[in-house]
Formats: sequence, C-alpha cells, structure tokens
Amino acid sequence: MTLNLTRLPVAHPTGQYEVLVGADLLPNLAELAHIRGPIVLITDSHVGPRHASRLSGAACTVTIPAGEQHKTLATVQTIYNELLAAGIDRQATVVALGGGVVGDVAGFVAATYLRGVDFVQCPTSLLAMVDASVGGKTGVDLPQGKNLVGAFKQPTAVLADITTLQTLPAEEFAAGMAEVVKHGLISNPELFERLEIGDWRFSNQSPISSLQSLVATAIEVKRDVVQEDPFEQGRRATLNLGHTFGHAIEQVSGYRVRHGEGVALGLVAAANLSTRLGYCDPALQERIEAVLQRQGLPTRIPAAYDPAQIYQAMFSDKKKAAGRLRFILLRDVGDVFIAAEVAEAAVLETLTAVQDPESSPLQ
Ligand SMILES: NC(=O)c1ccc[n+]([C@@H]2O[C@H](COP(=O)([O-])OP(=O)(O)OC[C@H]3O[C@@H](n4cnc5c(N)ncnc54)[C@H](O)[C@@H]3O)[C@@H](O)[C@H]2O)c1
Ligand SMILES: [Zn+2]
Repeated sequence: MTLNLTRLPVAHPTGQYEVLVGADLLPNLAELAHIRGPIVLITDSHVGPRHASRLSGAACTVTIPAGEQHKTLATVQTIYNELLAAGIDRQATVVALGGGVVGDVAGFVAATYLRGVDFVQCPTSLLAMVDASVGGKTGVDLPQGKNLVGAFKQPTAVLADITTLQTLPAEEFAAGMAEVVKHGLISNPELFERLEIGDWRFSNQSPISSLQSLVATAIEVKRDVVQEDPFEQGRRATLNLGHTFGHAIEQVSGYRVRHGEGVALGLVAAANLSTRLGYCDPALQERIEAVLQRQGLPTRIPAAYDPAQIYQAMFSDKKKAAGRLRFILLRDVGDVFIAAEVAEAAVLETLTAVQDPESSPLQ
C-alpha cells in the first residue's frame, strides 16, 4: 500500500468523502476508493494510452476524444450507449481518469445514468487535481456556451495520483499553476509566499514530494470554500477570482488563450482593478506578476484583443448576476471580496493598463 498518502476529508450536504493525494495510487484504486461493484472507466485519447493500464479490473472502458470540443451531450450519449451495450447496472462505479473535461463528462454520466451511479475521480491534470475534481460540479458545454448543462454529483472518493503529472504537457501544467496561484490569493498567503520565495519554478518534473504538498495545499483551499458554500450561493464565488476577465479574454481570443492563461491575465487585471478602486496596494499586482511569470504564465493581454471587445464578452458569461458584472477583488493576499458595482470606465482602464505595451497602440 502507498506510503506518504495525504488524506483530505471533504464534507458535503449528503455525506463526505476523501481526497487522497500521493504517488502511484492508480494500481490500488479499488482498495483506496472502497469500490466493490464493477468499474466503468472513462478516460480520453491522451490519458488512456498513458495511464489506463495501471488500473486493472475495469468491467468496461470508454475512451473519449481529448479536448474541450468533446465536452458535449453527444459524447455523453455515446457513453450511455457503451454502458448499456456492456450491461452496466446500478452497482457500477464510474471512474473518471483524465483532466477536467473527462471529470465533468464522466461526472455528468454518473449523475444521470440509471438515475445515478457511484462516481470516483482520478484527476490527471494539475487543474483537475486542484480545481475541477473537488466540489461536485459536473456538466457539458452547449453550442451557446460553456458548462450550460450539468448536475451536482459528489464523488465517493478522489484519487490525485501525482505520478500521472509526469506525462502532462508543460503548458497544461503551467495552466494549472494559475489556479494554484489563485487559491493562494483567495485564502492561503503561505501558499502564495511559497511560490514567491526562492526562484524555483514548479514543473511536472519537480520532486513528487513537493508536488504532492503543493497539490494538497491547493486542494485544501478549494475544499474549505466549497464546504462552506456547496451550492455557490455566496463565498464560493470567490473561486472565480480572475475569471470574469479570464473567460472574456479566452472568448475574444477564440480560445487560443487557454483557460489557465486567461486566469493568469485575469489575476493581474483583478489586482490592477482593485488598486484602481483604492482597495489594495499597487505592489500586489507586481507580486502577482512575478509569481505568474516564474511559472511560465503570461501577464499582459495581447494588444490584438481590444478592451471594449473584452468588456462586451464579459456580459456573455453565465456567472454574471442579473445582467450585472460581478468582480472578485483583492484587498491583500488571502483577502478577497465580491464587488457588485464596478464602473465600466474603471474596467476599461484596467484592460488598457494590462495590455502588452510592446505592441499595443493604446499605450
Ligand atoms: N467541475 C468543476 O468544478 C470545474 C472546475 C474547473 C474547470 N472545470 C473544467 O475542466 C476543464 C479543464 O480541465 P483541464 O485543464 O484538465 O482540461 P482537459 O481535460 O482538456 O486536459 C487538458 C489536456 O491535457 C491532457 N491530459 C490530462 N492529463 C494528462 C496527463 N496526465 N498526461 C498527458 N496528457 C494529459 C488532456 O487529454 C487534454 O488534452 C474545462 O472543461 C473546465 O470547464 C471544471
Ligand atoms: Zn478556472
């Protein structure tokens, strides 16, 4: 059995489960996750060939094509068909092995197939480990927008096997680091300072023990927030720090800017806006930029993306409350709050200020 396992209990409205963080967990999946019935493994075309063989005894394996464009109802339908053909009944446990896309799709299948079967998450991207796999949100995209259909489905266990990160592409690792930085900013100054001190950059080749502790610390932040607000009625919104800006930048770029990069730019913009509105010291933006740059993340919005266009795109984000934009702002590291009314002029000034000065006609 694996040594040095970090166990993080998560309480939710109908029970509790454990997030296990450690190396080489997949070979002991059934035992660690207390799975008794048949296992339905759902993975994607990048992760399956690399990691599915480490996990033995699946009654049925469904491999979906990798990529956000496959996070659709059509993919869900394909999975239902395969499960029915394999005679999968309600005793089964759906196991998601992959990044956030696999977790969201497989979780939605687990929530709905035969009105619900047990669900275990085995996140393999840094983003899925520290963010998507904890909190119970599952779902798919529609042509009209991202994550528009879904369900809350709590897993019975989450196994974050750090060993799987070794095959994660560097830019996907960096994207996950943006959410780690965000978690430090939301409520863990020590986590943020750990990324500030020294000059090391985390990568998927970092020692397992330091990745394990980084991942576990970042998960704890999300765990604490979702435990307090499981259905996103209040504090959970703070997890969207940087995301109002980030989603809009992603959208305007036609998704060439990946989610984690959008979040990185959004964190810089959130600090800039917070300073502009008098809530925080200008030094905070510089500290955030230094940490993001060290992790290989962008800190300036490419000049090709027009501030007015980014501002417009913010209104198509489903997270806005009743037509109003909602920004998460910073007072300091570990001190964030939800701001309902922010003047358009201030947002536009911020978008202009954090554009790339090299190529921007606006500076
Ligand atoms: N449910 C939630 O609360 C929640 C929270 C945040 C994000 N999300 C969702 O998560 C998704 C983003 O997650 P993501 O960044 O993991 O995207 P992803 O699942 O698309 O994974 C990114 C890429 O990395 C590959 N990959 C993953 N693990 C790998 C590994 N170990 N080795 C090699 N390749 C690997 C994937 O195949 C994919 O190509 C979005 O759809 C987002 O909406 C959900
Ligand atoms: Zn995010």
